[in-house]
Amino acid sequence: MNLYTRPMAVENKMRVIALLNQKGGVGKTTTTVNLGAAFAASGLRTLLIDLDPQSNLSLHFGVEASNDEPRPSSTSLFANPPLPIEQCMTQARENLWFIPADQELALAEGQQDAQHVLANALQLVRDKFDVVLLDCPPGLGVLSVNALTAADEVIVPMQAQYLALRGLEKLLQTVSDITAGLNPKLRCTGVVLCMHESQSSHGRAVVEEIRQHFESCRESDVPWRDCRVLTPPIRRNIKLAEAPSFGQTIFDYDPKCAGADDYRGVANSLLAMWNANSSVQSAQDSSASPA
Ligand SMILES: Nc1ncnc2c1ncn2[C@@H]1O[C@H](COP(=O)(O)OP(=O)(O)OP(=O)(O)O)[C@@H](O)[C@H]1O
Ligand SMILES: [Mg+2]
Repeated sequence: MNLYTRPMAVENKMRVIALLNQKGGVGKTTTTVNLGAAFAASGLRTLLIDLDPQSNLSLHFGVEASNDEPRPSSTSLFANPPLPIEQCMTQARENLWFIPADQELALAEGQQDAQHVLANALQLVRDKFDVVLLDCPPGLGVLSVNALTAADEVIVPMQAQYLALRGLEKLLQTVSDITAGLNPKLRCTGVVLCMHESQSSHGRAVVEEIRQHFESCRESDVPWRDCRVLTPPIRRNIKLAEAPSFGQTIFDYDPKCAGADDYRGVANSLLAMWNANSSVQSAQDSSASPA
């Protein structure tokens, strides 16, 4: 890999991001796959982990769980003893790796005291990746709690609808509960609007309400004080729904479509935010260091 093409923001730190929403069908997996593919295309070493027994992320890469051909998966991380994480990965594209899931992963939901399994596994690859994206299942069970315990950040894929807003309140409360115990460093940093209909006045009103809520929290001590509604919103685009049936990301399937543009745009927004934050951090570090 050419190091000079890698964005500066994440060179020294692996960012672990959970794509989380307890509601089903909101765009978690589509966002994990296509945001991950956009990061990989911009030179970041990216790992995607399928934490959903439905294994939809795996299908996006043409991997079908099969009993005839068992393969290492995220279930193997929850085994006793666990399989080392590097043995569970498959390389999908340049700079892009993934860990598939299978139906047996559902058994992990019944495991006691298993909240740190993923966090412990990821410790072993801290210097190997720039970004890790965790595709959470719907719901807030053991698998989602594992993701929240391992993650630095939560990004919430959601629709701009009133009921989704109520769900967001519950999700932020869960993040807050996790910071009070299992993972004090966890922050909610972004909302991605998926299947967005910009013409809808209801949608516009909901987006405005989310923005205002986050703005009103900037000075408070909540784990979403830096959260942004990420831009651009991901428009409803049939190509995004078609790509997985060919085992392709949107950049393989139709790199010029609106869905590809939108996910590229969100990846660029995040990279710009990370760069800005790391510049502030290095300025603070150098002013704090003795002359
Ligand atoms: N922007 C979009 N335009 C059109 N279809 C989309 C878009 N985003 C996602 N979809 C489709 O919507 C459905 C749900 O998306 P996805 O599987 O990403 O949601 P999810 O939150 O991961 O669901 P689950 O909770 O079941 O895991 C899928 O069929 C997907 O192809
Ligand atoms: Mg999914």
